[in-house]
Amino acid sequence: MVNYKVADESLAEKGKEALYIAENKMPVISKVIRERFEREKPLKGVIIAGCLHVTKETGNLARTLKAGGAEVYLCGSNPLSTQDDVSAALVKEGINVFAWHGNTDEEFYWCIRECLKAKPNILIDDGADMIVTAHKEFPELIQNGTIIACQEETTTGVKRFKAMDKQGALKVPLFPVNDARCKNQFDNELGTGQGVVAAIYGMHVLFAGKNVIIAGFGHCSSGMALRARGLGANVTITEVDPIKALQAKFTGYNVMPIKEALPYADIILTATGCKHVIPPTKEMFGLLKDGVILGNLGHFDIEIPTKELYEFAKTINPVRKDVEELIFPDGKKVYLLAKGRLANLVLSEGHPSEVMDMSFGLQALMSEYIVKNSKNFKPGMVDVPIDIDDKVGILKLKAMGIKIDTLTEEQYKYIHGYLEGT
Ligand code: NAI
Repeated sequence: MVNYKVADESLAEKGKEALYIAENKMPVISKVIRERFEREKPLKGVIIAGCLHVTKETGNLARTLKAGGAEVYLCGSNPLSTQDDVSAALVKEGINVFAWHGNTDEEFYWCIRECLKAKPNILIDDGADMIVTAHKEFPELIQNGTIIACQEETTTGVKRFKAMDKQGALKVPLFPVNDARCKNQFDNELGTGQGVVAAIYGMHVLFAGKNVIIAGFGHCSSGMALRARGLGANVTITEVDPIKALQAKFTGYNVMPIKEALPYADIILTATGCKHVIPPTKEMFGLLKDGVILGNLGHFDIEIPTKELYEFAKTINPVRKDVEELIFPDGKKVYLLAKGRLANLVLSEGHPSEVMDMSFGLQALMSEYIVKNSKNFKPGMVDVPIDIDDKVGILKLKAMGIKIDTLTEEQYKYIHGYLEGT
């Protein structure tokens, strides 16, 4: 029996088409790993719960885990990123889905609880909400060993787990899949980088000649800066890390504090994982230019002070789907994308399937690794094994028909030794 709650089951046919489009661009997860999983069933008898953006790419991860023998539960990791057609299609394929676009905070946690009630053995999280809920409300799943290990998909989640681990509060083995090279060097940089296009989609604005402020110069934000510059924008970076600020400067961007940047900004895009990147004060709101577009691509909706902006605005007009015009008491207009939530996922369809092929290739192989090595883990943060990271890279190159060199024995000895010098 399939357990589910989705928005509209009649969208299943449309969702199937979306899954098909992604499948063709995800050879690692949808072909190579899936075909092997179908033969070998490495996940037989295992229940996997994913709290992930329910997109066509995640749908293909779920299909592959199911092909490997797992019983799969899915809920959304953001109230606005679920693609309702995909949810409906997955239910038809026997995946247990609790997700719909636009759920309230209460409904969001209800969906997580429905997945945890299934007593999953592996949790795949995006932002830490499911695993934190398991600690708070389902401790027996941890104490009695039902949960073998967990995986985290994004930077914000990894940061939350590192904080938990430091305080001794992390009671499960946690693999920060986000930190694997095949994940953050492609998904965060290329995927979120291309997310600036979602901002254009939201407002149909020309980037060329605009003053675009990007908050942060990390994995996501440096990618966003690169794409914004490629579209002809004058890019300014704000940072709190001196080395990242220097990197931004030497890459040719303007660097300045947010307060100095605000009056010039035509577009402000954040992806820092921090809160109140634009400080939530009337003085700061007063500095914003009339007509400025505000978009966040970081995990939570507090990088741009969404709540405070809504409170400050005299009028809020929806101007198109998931874009609002906020009119301030002095008549100034500010355009907020996606209610301050991940603009690339809400206004568009999230990352291109090609990059998610690697992120989810890692998640699938890590699920298999966890099952095979279940006796060997202790609670706390555990690195993704380098050979799994390499394996995904090798599979991706192979699928793309690209060959690379391999080290000769002599070269291997040289770079791993110290005797040979000048
Ligand atoms: P990162 O750690 O590589 O980069 C964050 C950067 O922001 C750092 O350089 C940091 O110094 C800087 N920063 C922190 N606070 C700041 C502040 N107040 N003002 C200016 N700069 C500040 O992290 P990454 O991987 O780039 O992730 C950033 C956020 O994006 C996270 O919330 C992550 O979960 C999310 N994310 C979103 C995706 C999407 O699809 N939209 C995909 C992947 C990650």
